[in-house]
Amino acid sequence: MDTYIIDGGERLYGKLQAQSAKNTVLPLLAASVLTDEQVKIRGVPTITDVENMLRILTEVGCKIKRKSDCAVIDSSNAVSHEIPPRLTKELRSSVFMLGSVLTRFRRAKISYPGGCDIGLRPIDLHLAGLKRLGVKITEEGGYIECEADRLVGAEILLDFPSVGATENIILAAVKAEGITVIRNAAKEPEIVDLQNFLNAMGANVRGAGGGTVVIEGVKRLHGIEYTPIGDRIEAGTYLIAAAICGGEIEINGVPPENIAALLHKLRENGCKIHTKNDKIILESSGKLKSVDLVETTPFPGFPTDLQAQYSALCCTARGTTLVVENLFETRYKYAGELKRMGADVTVRGRTAVIRGVEKLHGARVTASDLRGGAALVVAALGAEGQSTVIDLSHIDRGYADFEYKLKKLGAKIRRVRI
Ligand code: UD1
Repeated sequence: MDTYIIDGGERLYGKLQAQSAKNTVLPLLAASVLTDEQVKIRGVPTITDVENMLRILTEVGCKIKRKSDCAVIDSSNAVSHEIPPRLTKELRSSVFMLGSVLTRFRRAKISYPGGCDIGLRPIDLHLAGLKRLGVKITEEGGYIECEADRLVGAEILLDFPSVGATENIILAAVKAEGITVIRNAAKEPEIVDLQNFLNAMGANVRGAGGGTVVIEGVKRLHGIEYTPIGDRIEAGTYLIAAAICGGEIEINGVPPENIAALLHKLRENGCKIHTKNDKIILESSGKLKSVDLVETTPFPGFPTDLQAQYSALCCTARGTTLVVENLFETRYKYAGELKRMGADVTVRGRTAVIRGVEKLHGARVTASDLRGGAALVVAALGAEGQSTVIDLSHIDRGYADFEYKLKKLGAKIRRVRI
């Protein structure tokens, strides 16, 4: 099993380019089956979630070429509307294939998707939205089977602005007859990027980022070359690492407004932050003060995907921070591991109370989900002494070249197999 050995206490200095956003690349890959022409996506990060999505595309009959960091998808010979369970259980985003495969074949069969164990993660909003478009859905033996002779545009009001449901409905509506309106749609930047990608293929999608998305169905989509937006969660993770360790880093490729909620908190913690276009420069003394409250909410609020990493920062900020996780039920699994490093954290349901201690100390800890794993790494970088972070399989799902990028900033981190 791959493991990090981290010698904490180094300050971080240098520049990094953000990878393309995992949460954009995954729906874009699913969207590539909407056309039988070639789709080329540049800057595709080498992470296991992407590799698994590419495997799913291969399973439905697409031909994939990887050239350096580009993925070229040719789905002209795609034949299958079934996504095998061994792949869906690895990857929550396999659910996007429902929308795109339905559009392509008028049928889709998928088993319930897996992914990080951070809560119940139902897909009822996805399915309710698809039903509104005229899809017949049968759920049996862990499988979801969808069929639609015709996909017809409709008004859809989401009970909650779910990112995945918004994207899936867009994928199913893009070639439907007539107009679909999604109200209370998620506003995340990744949805805007999906809109831009689809429109570049000839779709007619408007309003993404603003809560109401209007999709006018078109007859056909064509192939394109596209570069997705930078990964705000990856960028945020490095910014948090530098805030904890002290130093000065520059991240390029992410518009500051895409992580404004984090930047606001980091300033309150005492970091100096300068921004210009898509460049973010953070300076930290490493001596931080706590903020009173951080609460995760849909965009533009504080992202749940940075909650764990930010909580690691709170562990050594002077004062007490109240963290409230509103999106996922069980997103504090890492807290017990941080305690092994000397953190003072009390978790009750969706709330964590974190009392800052002077320093964390090195410990042997286990990563049990993607962002929780990243939190343990950033905590270990700031801790005194050596830490071992066991099981990198979760971290590898979302961070390309994680240890390489951290080393470039001056961190002492190495990957070993135990
Ligand atoms: C996406 C992101 C994930 C991020 C999350 C919230 C991708 C590939 N993943 O996940 O990294 O943490 O947004 O920003 O983009 N819900 C329902 N029913 C549904 C769908 C969602 O009740 O049908 C609930 C979920 O349980 C959760 C909330 O809605 O409490 C938000 O989930 P959602 O926005 O759908 O997250 P994902 O799309 O799964």
